[in-house]
Amino acid sequence: MKTAVRYYSRSGNTKAAAEAIAKAAGVPAVSVDSADAAIQEPVDVLFIGGALYAYGIDSHLKDFLKTLKKSDVKKAVVFSTSWISKHAVDIIKKELGEKGIPAVDEFFYAKNKPNSEQLEEAAAFAKKFL
Ligand SMILES: Cc1cc2nc3c(=O)[nH]c(=O)nc-3n(C[C@H](O)[C@H](O)[C@H](O)COP(=O)(O)O)c2cc1C
Repeated sequence: MKTAVRYYSRSGNTKAAAEAIAKAAGVPAVSVDSADAAIQEPVDVLFIGGALYAYGIDSHLKDFLKTLKKSDVKKAVVFSTSWISKHAVDIIKKELGEKGIPAVDEFFYAKNKPNSEQLEEAAAFAKKFL
């Protein structure tokens, strides 16, 4: 099974979740603004994460989502962090939907920086899809 983890994180909270998921999946957690972010070959599962900023997602993540191809991503699994709202999950799923990429209903979410218990939860969550 081919898996990829992509995320965007301004202050490290979503990055921490991404890294726990990536460790569980045995792949690197790659920020969407890094040179190797593009999905180069089709994946079975794309874990994709981002946070909410003023009720929107960062433009880096939005731009990356627009580059995804349905033929390259069999299914997506979303994760997010924020102060309160889980709305980034909806926004990311909407962008995926516009690309015709199915996202599973379940998602991983933590308030701000995931603590060690939540990082373990993130890893266990990821393993359900591997
Ligand atoms: C400028 C700014 C705007 C934010 N707006 C919201 C918001 O509308 N709702 C919310 O629940 N959290 C909001 N947050 C909190 C972030 O989503 C939260 O700190 C998140 O964990 C940041 O993730 P990151 O460290 O991966 O960038 C905001 C944070 C910042 C810095």
